[in-house]
Amino acid sequence: MHREGRSVPLSAGGRRGGNGQNDGVPDLLLPPPRTPDPADAPVLRWGVLGPGEIAGDFVEALQRHTGQRVVAVGSRSAERAASFAARHDVPRAHVGYDALVDDPEVDVVYVATPHSEHARNALLAIAAGKHVLIEKPVAVTAALARTIFDAAAAAGVFAMEAMWTRFLPQTDVVAQVLERGALGPLSLATADFAGGGTSDPNSRLLDPAQGGGALLDLGVYVAWWSQLVLGTPDRVTARGLLGPTGVDEQATLLLEAGDAQGVATAGLRGRTAWRATVVGAAARIEVTAPFWAASGLTLVGPDGGVRDRWDDPFDRPYRHGLCYEAAAVARAIAEGRTEHPDHPSASAIAVLETLDAARHQIGYADPPGWTT
Ligand SMILES: NC(=O)c1ccc[n+]([C@@H]2O[C@H](COP(=O)([O-])OP(=O)(O)OC[C@H]3O[C@@H](n4cnc5c(N)ncnc54)[C@H](OP(=O)(O)O)[C@@H]3O)[C@@H](O)[C@H]2O)c1
Repeated sequence: MHREGRSVPLSAGGRRGGNGQNDGVPDLLLPPPRTPDPADAPVLRWGVLGPGEIAGDFVEALQRHTGQRVVAVGSRSAERAASFAARHDVPRAHVGYDALVDDPEVDVVYVATPHSEHARNALLAIAAGKHVLIEKPVAVTAALARTIFDAAAAAGVFAMEAMWTRFLPQTDVVAQVLERGALGPLSLATADFAGGGTSDPNSRLLDPAQGGGALLDLGVYVAWWSQLVLGTPDRVTARGLLGPTGVDEQATLLLEAGDAQGVATAGLRGRTAWRATVVGAAARIEVTAPFWAASGLTLVGPDGGVRDRWDDPFDRPYRHGLCYEAAAVARAIAEGRTEHPDHPSASAIAVLETLDAARHQIGYADPPGWTT
């Protein structure tokens, strides 16, 4: 069983627990995050592949909170490329993704197309010798994810899934608490992310050909959370509901990892609370909603009393938290790495193995071309 995060044990913090009780529970506090200022990362020249919704938010986050330079955008349409470039003050607009990845001024390509296109687009950039940051899920299946990471390793370029939540300060706080074993033996992790649905019948979320469904779009976050805190599951049990287009509109996963259980829910129908927890014998951590974005943490003792709180001071539009992952990528590339130790290929592939298993248990018929 592999648990993610840095494995170096940290020295215990010196502060006392929040309620001052002496009930046999070790001193528990949430340590400060070690996350460096995203503005200080070495500067890379970014090219955006696919000028859609998240691409716009990503560019804004970089321009507002980092020194990263977005130098080019590529679209299948000249009009969309030009319009994105004008809206976001990006100097060069390329027609076609080949032109973008061949741009000698681009160091790293941000792949922001629908899930089903990620492998093809990432492989294109890798073949052109570019580093890649690929939106989540990195591919529609674990096998395709392996193909991407193998190609990047062979080419000696950096590749990472854009699991931005891993790079938020709050996740570093959680990682430190887990490294210290401060929660005691872990029994449960929960996460729910439902409600990202759509009223647009043509949405990619409902289109199996684009990797639609709750699991691939939102389940990737909840399965990742369980894996981060409990480790790769030994057993995946999934139940879900397919909608009229054949995609999963609701899915709940039981992820058994040793003696602990993860419960992960994703859905396109009703909106859930968007919380995540990790529960140990000595205490639990609750991540404030929305757990996948910069929010906050509450540490709760076994008596139910609050021991500590940490609130992210990042008072900005929530997707601006994408700046942390971009800065982490820039640092890793400057260090000559081809993977980031906090979200390496093994983590992304293991989450997709969970999602492959869950999708098949639910009865999702993978479109032709999805190798698993
Ligand atoms: N990190 C996050 O918080 C977050 C949030 C939302 C989405 N995402 C991820 O980002 C990716 C894109 O999502 P989005 O909501 O930004 O999508 P979107 O608005 O539909 O944009 C996707 C872009 O991809 C391009 N594209 C290439 N092939 C396509 C195809 N076959 N069909 C449709 N578009 C195609 C299109 O640009 P051109 O045709 O102009 O080239 C389009 O603008 C998804 O994988 C999603 O999971 C992440």
